[in-house]
Amino acid sequence: MLFELSEEHLAVQQAAREFAQNELKPGVIERDTNMTFPTEQVKQMGELGFLGMMVDPKYGGSGMDTLSYVLAMEELSKVDNSASVIMSVNNSLVCWGIETFGTEEQKEKYLPKLTSGEWIGSFCLSEPEAGSDATSQRTTAVDMGDHYVLNGTKNWITNGGSSSLHLVIAQTNPELGHKGINVLIVEADQKGVVIGAKEDKLGIRSSDTHTIMYNDVIVPKSNRIGEDGFGFKFAMKTLSGGRIGIAAQALGILGGSYELSAAYAMEREAFGKPIIKHQAIGFKLAEMATDYEAAKMLVYRAAWMKDNGMNYDLSSSQAKLFASDKAMKHSVEAVQIHGGYGFVKEYHVERLMRDAKITQIYEGTSEVQKIVISRSVEKGQLNVPVSK
Ligand code: CAA
Repeated sequence: MLFELSEEHLAVQQAAREFAQNELKPGVIERDTNMTFPTEQVKQMGELGFLGMMVDPKYGGSGMDTLSYVLAMEELSKVDNSASVIMSVNNSLVCWGIETFGTEEQKEKYLPKLTSGEWIGSFCLSEPEAGSDATSQRTTAVDMGDHYVLNGTKNWITNGGSSSLHLVIAQTNPELGHKGINVLIVEADQKGVVIGAKEDKLGIRSSDTHTIMYNDVIVPKSNRIGEDGFGFKFAMKTLSGGRIGIAAQALGILGGSYELSAAYAMEREAFGKPIIKHQAIGFKLAEMATDYEAAKMLVYRAAWMKDNGMNYDLSSSQAKLFASDKAMKHSVEAVQIHGGYGFVKEYHVERLMRDAKITQIYEGTSEVQKIVISRSVEKGQLNVPVSK
């Protein structure tokens, strides 16, 4: 069992760290306050290869493994979780979904645009009445022979106003339940696609979250991914990988909270000594450092399992559950360690605390992860073999 990153992985981590600290950090507070989409930064992410990290270079991707993607997500998420969720949705839901299950024509047409940052994508599953209960899709894609007619409303769509491509999950044969669901590639400029108001959110405020309405949108059959009825399985398989990305985001929030708090506690003095020397603070940092290491093990292992062709449904849910809960807990502690400074924007930790909350909600709430994990417990699958 190896616990060291390779030279290549260290190089990716370093490049992502430099990008986050040098390009994302300046301006992150203003973008968050004003809900300004990071247009320029997303363009740079495309140029640096962060938007299609795992995609084959023949489609414009960086051809890297999931662990590289996780390391980059972690570094970006220490600083700017609006930028990192844009990256996560584009990589693990949209690009991975198209590359893994799409036709050659779909890959050639869409992936080069998505990996370069010319386009970004969004994943349109959630509805006003179908969040955790994802099988209850009300959006319909009526089969008209050579095309579908799409009608319905999707909620809380990340990249909703800025994406050029939507992966839309919709019901075609309600009598078949989840087996009647399809996934369609919809270009955002098609007639009948209406982007609703931008959400004013607690966290990840400069990411672009919208309701989207589809009114009689004509979608050619060639834009369906997979066989008829594959849409729900597509969503589940894609979200399994997506959860590794969000787990990495939570890991970054935890790591950012730790790094900022440790540095502050060594510098700030109270009662005649640096506050780290007071056990009330030192013990918080000890717990934070330990949970950060434990979360790394789960998140990196989930990525490693995916890279090694193993089933990662359970490990991605475990990684997301643990990392997001610890990110929430320790980002609150980071504000506490910083005292009054923690409560103002300049010190960055209050933003991490607000951003942490969404990692317990999107791509499956903590409760959804517990459903996935407890079903594995029931089936006696919990001791996942990590080596042969
Ligand atoms: N891979 C392949 N197939 C899977 C699967 C997986 N990981 N998980 C389930 N399935 C299959 C099952 O085998 C079953 O198929 P069969 O009937 O052929 O056996 C089918 O899917 C239905 O599965 P379940 O009976 O387990 O479905 P369920 O209704 O009980 O739901 C659930 C399970 C885990 C709660 C699921 O609905 C779920 O994950 N919900 C949360 C959805 C979610 O994550 N939403 C996030 C929105 S997207 C987002 O946030 C993006 C963003 O913008 C940031």
